[in-house]
Amino acid sequence: MSDDSTRDGTMTENKGFEPKIVAYVCNWCTYLGADLAGTTRLEYPPNVRIIRLPCTGRIDFNLIVKGFEIGADAVLVSGCHPGDCHYTAGNYHARRRWILFRELLDTLGFDLRRIHFTWISAAEGKKWQQVITEMTEQTRQLGPYTDLYANGSAQDSANDLPSGPPTPFEFKTLPAEGALRESCRKLLADGTVKVVIGYGQRGPAILTRAEDAGRLVWNNRCVSNLTTYLKRKEIKALGKPAVVVKPCDEKSLVVLEKESQLDRKNIHVIGMACEGVGEPKCTFCTARTPRFADETLGEAAGPASLADPPPNRFAALMAMAPAERMAFWAKQFDRCVKCYACRQVCPMCYCERCIADKNRPIAIDPAPSAKGNFAWQIARAFHLAARCVGCGECSRACPAGIDLALLNIALHKAAQVNFGYDAGVDPAAEPVVGSYALQDKEDFIG
Ligand code: FES
Repeated sequence: MSDDSTRDGTMTENKGFEPKIVAYVCNWCTYLGADLAGTTRLEYPPNVRIIRLPCTGRIDFNLIVKGFEIGADAVLVSGCHPGDCHYTAGNYHARRRWILFRELLDTLGFDLRRIHFTWISAAEGKKWQQVITEMTEQTRQLGPYTDLYANGSAQDSANDLPSGPPTPFEFKTLPAEGALRESCRKLLADGTVKVVIGYGQRGPAILTRAEDAGRLVWNNRCVSNLTTYLKRKEIKALGKPAVVVKPCDEKSLVVLEKESQLDRKNIHVIGMACEGVGEPKCTFCTARTPRFADETLGEAAGPASLADPPPNRFAALMAMAPAERMAFWAKQFDRCVKCYACRQVCPMCYCERCIADKNRPIAIDPAPSAKGNFAWQIARAFHLAARCVGCGECSRACPAGIDLALLNIALHKAAQVNFGYDAGVDPAAEPVVGSYALQDKEDFIG
């Protein structure tokens, strides 16, 4: 008989409970270590199911989630020690991704005590025995994993985060509107650009004729990040574009250029000085003047005062217990209809074929079910790890009103804290994902 310490601290008993453990191991070290344990007759609990992959660098983050979905009470990921990877650096890349992925799982309310990472070499049969024995015992103590995707109807208090009083909004046409129209008229008239992507009365305005420049507007409702249109094939087909950007949107250009998704020399960037466009993100934004634009229009006062910032929804979310966070997201995602508006509007989502659309094999359940919605949002958020520039378009575009940007904030903070990286700020900074450092932290790896 064993006591079970559940996630809210209450103690229950789990008589006869035998945990199921899924272990994703690399072929060259941990698998051989497990094999050695067997051939040398080392006994360990039979609760583990081993799934062998070529290298930890090839262990897709979705597999960790899948492990729980197929009934695991705990998941182990294990590979070669640093310096021993059969493919030189697969485990270093994996370590970096795990650092970020753990933060995302924590934000979603997964129980991190059930997710283990280790390095076990081919000679460490004894360590395999020890790890599996300890993990089994610890999971036995924790009990079955019943919180997964549970919306916790008893804890409805978790469903709402503070949003603060509505900000008074007064529509204002901004002084640089005339200069913007004139500049775009000239650019189109003299053939410097073939198309202008700017703001119109009712949303984005895509102009190809100089005489239409009067349709452009610049006011405090110009919220959207227009750089997302640069990736569209139909826009690319029109020829060299000019794009209107606010200082915050400009960061997307830096990331997209870094990822070879655009040729900066072939884009004319019209930077608008900006004092905020009435969005919650503007309250914390200190960028006022674009830094990399080809021309800058308007003037903006210095950084806004944060004397009266809106409630910090992310901090409120992280103050909840993990089970409450899971319940919060389960309720949020319950409203998701898989319209993929969050993907379409995101400047950083540019894959020709999204993982969500693949059907051989199906990586993400296409049904708008709890499982499918969590899988989709985990994939979406993690593909934006250390790439998201915080434009908040995903939250704004979501017709179900799901605050998706909270997941991006989690990963943004993780990149800042662990790697001092702020996507889109320093064009010379090395991207976090796709690189590694020997000294990356591994205090969570056994
Ligand atoms: Fe084992 Fe890369 S081959 S971690």
